[in-house]
Amino acid sequence: MARFKIDVAFINRENEMAELSNYLEGRPNAILFLYGPKSSGKTTLMYRLFEQMEAEKRYEINFLNLRKVFLTSYDDFIEVFFKSSNSEKGLKTGTKRQYSLFGLFKLDAFTEKMLKKRQEDPFLIMEREFQRLVKKGIRPVVIIDEFHKLDGLYLPDKQKRLMVELMNFFVAMTKESHLCHVIIASSDAFFIEQVYVDSKLRKTSEFMKLDYLEKEDAFVWLRDIKKYNQVQEYTLDEKQIKIIWETVGGSAWEIHYILGKLFQYPLDAVISKIKREKVAMISDWAFNDEARNGLLRHFRKQPIRKLVELAGTDKAIMGQAVKDNILFYDPVDGIYGIQGKSLEWGIRGYFEEMKMLRGQ
Ligand SMILES: Nc1ncnc2c1ncn2[C@@H]1O[C@H](COP(=O)(O)OP(=O)(O)OP(=O)(O)O)[C@@H](O)[C@H]1O
Ligand SMILES: [Mg+2]
Repeated sequence: MARFKIDVAFINRENEMAELSNYLEGRPNAILFLYGPKSSGKTTLMYRLFEQMEAEKRYEINFLNLRKVFLTSYDDFIEVFFKSSNSEKGLKTGTKRQYSLFGLFKLDAFTEKMLKKRQEDPFLIMEREFQRLVKKGIRPVVIIDEFHKLDGLYLPDKQKRLMVELMNFFVAMTKESHLCHVIIASSDAFFIEQVYVDSKLRKTSEFMKLDYLEKEDAFVWLRDIKKYNQVQEYTLDEKQIKIIWETVGGSAWEIHYILGKLFQYPLDAVISKIKREKVAMISDWAFNDEARNGLLRHFRKQPIRKLVELAGTDKAIMGQAVKDNILFYDPVDGIYGIQGKSLEWGIRGYFEEMKMLRGQ
């Protein structure tokens, strides 16, 4: 009986893993920001790093994925970042060292009470915890995914933005006291840009970009789906692999999607469905909006544009396109790109449809 399921593969990323390991090997000196286009694999890479470092007793890794949590107030932040030591049962996984994906720091009952009554400073608690670990010869590491979700939260005095205060705290913990490594990942290009244009933060941070998989990696993967995804029911020939690459590029999420569909449908049907969906997405975004159409025209033939080349284009529209995940912006090299190769097909298809409509 045919299965309709593929195993999730993890392809390459050796350089990126080495870069992250290097960062953790050194003395804490800067916050590391991991950024990259939508679904490039940032979270997956963080989990991999977490698993790898977990095996090493030298590190105490605190990993928090904010995408999974509900955050609307300062109290939610306290709830998510701090966990009392007696509420941790059930999180233990066999003999593995304990970690919590929900609460970063473990508290005794008294401290927890003080914290909840707002008579303890959460930043001081964290610093004390880092110092305690460092004294024991353990290196604390904080990894926070989807950090931008803290935006909109304020400290109890309602004046200070929690996200800003937390970042300042992490600057102090890395660059100033060298106590703790901090990795912050975000899929929000707008957030990364804000960090990058803040000269104080930029000088105290490293930026690491995670792009889609390279062509070579995608080809190695697709030539051996038996090995990488345990697929026995079909194989792909070079022509098919080329078609997949030309449609979705190195977007692992979309490659996984295609492989899953190929149990039931022929490749050309799957590919044209993807393209149709992208055309619909672009039409929804740009239809009857001259400014958005104007922006997309820039990207119609050549997908990557430097900011300077886009001079004259309304900045607000570009910001909107980034927020809506149509464009990706890399603040480090100042380049705008389309969020993935499949969307380029969407843009092309959209203009073809427009041409046909006008021709009628
Ligand atoms: N190296 C890889 N090899 C194969 N598949 C991968 C790889 N990295 C990520 N993926 C797959 O790609 C998909 C997207 O990955 P992930 O969620 O980690 O991306 P992300 O960059 O965190 O996305 P977002 O921008 O939404 O935060 C997942 O389904 C994951 O299994
Ligand atoms: Mg992610």
